[in-house]
Amino acid sequence: MNFEFQNPTRILFGAGVLARLGEAAGEYGKKALLVTGGGSVKRGGVFDRAVESLKAAGVSYVECTGIEPNPRISSVVRGADIARKEGCDMVIALGGGSVMDASKVIAAAALYDGDPWDMIMHGQEHVHVPTQALPVITVPTLAATGSEANCGAVITNEKTTVKSFVMAPALYPKVAVVDPELTVSVPVDQTAYGVCDLITHVTEAYFNGSGTTPLQDRFAEGVILTALEWGPKAVADGNDLEARTQIQWAALVALVGWVNVGTNGAYPVHMMEHTVSAYHDITHAAGLSIINPAWMRFAAKAEPAKFVQFAERVFGLKARSADDLDCALQGIDLFETFLRSIGCPTRFSELGIGDELFETYAKDTVAIMNDGNGRLPARPPMSIDDMVSVFKAAL
Ligand code: NZQ
Ligand code: ZN
Repeated sequence: MNFEFQNPTRILFGAGVLARLGEAAGEYGKKALLVTGGGSVKRGGVFDRAVESLKAAGVSYVECTGIEPNPRISSVVRGADIARKEGCDMVIALGGGSVMDASKVIAAAALYDGDPWDMIMHGQEHVHVPTQALPVITVPTLAATGSEANCGAVITNEKTTVKSFVMAPALYPKVAVVDPELTVSVPVDQTAYGVCDLITHVTEAYFNGSGTTPLQDRFAEGVILTALEWGPKAVADGNDLEARTQIQWAALVALVGWVNVGTNGAYPVHMMEHTVSAYHDITHAAGLSIINPAWMRFAAKAEPAKFVQFAERVFGLKARSADDLDCALQGIDLFETFLRSIGCPTRFSELGIGDELFETYAKDTVAIMNDGNGRLPARPPMSIDDMVSVFKAAL
């Protein structure tokens, strides 16, 4: 292991902590761009409570509403224009991962004269990695992405049908105001997708990492076991605040950095899913829940040992040997059964997606990221044919 790690985001966590938004924002200026999605925060009264807290702290705001799920670059441009014209000191993201991701890129775009799409890795020769951004405060209303306390953002270019990411230290939120009460209104399907997303954030590095990070393995298994225990409770009863709290914390921890640090893990399932949702505008983790089990079966056949560890430690199975493929595959079956039990799709056909574009997704994925030999970084690295075979297995 050899790494450098710093996550500077200050985290305020707990039921009722939304009341401290104004106090947190007051440290960064007097005027905020308040970014929201399609209206869920207004319907539930969360918006009014956020504004009340800002007003009490003497922070005024202008709005950027209507950030769509799978946020688009055109919305980023619109938000950055408002922030510039209105002279905003900071950006406050009040919503799910889409709102938080758009807010981060808006905050950087407000200080960048070029095209904000330059910041998103899409296979271009020169990527503009932002080194400055307006201060960002995140207030997640959905437990899933962990975007509230990491430096990543995922944006879609609707004109070129490309969905990809930017990661830059300048995008770390200054403060994450994480109030699980805000998630009680999340519908059942989005609750389940959030559970799948947070699990996939740790399985990526767990299965694709160097294999020499035993402590990170235990962190990852802890996150997965927590999600297996509390996820079904949050799905069964959205008003179960204890379940909402545990899932909100697990989602943040999953991608805050220290679970994956030092693993050198790749994110093949995410890379493939982003390309699929660029074409079909599906919910991110609905795509993950289809692709991840299929990818696991593909990777386990190449190198079963880590999947045996997963089967034993997460699902309590007993392997005959350290590379017992049957045991590895049984663990993956149990994982897929769990995803189904909370209502996640596990086949493309459930979303009405056929095999017409499988090769296109694969080619687009390696165009965004490859190992120099035309393969997607993963363990094992994936050729276009490998990706197509995984997609086919999930049809
Ligand atoms: O738009 P509104 O009206 O707010 O409704 C949203 C949206 O329809 C709704 N919702 C959010 N909070 C709610 C609520 N409904 C009722 N009550 C609430 N409290 O849920 C729907 C989905 O919201 P969205 O923000 O799109 O979901 P999520 O948090 O899963 O974010 C997904 C996006 O994040 C990206 C994904 O690719 C996708 O674009 N990711 C970002 C990552 C990151 N920055 O670290 C990592 C992830 O792997 C992921 O790629
Ligand atoms: Zn994800």
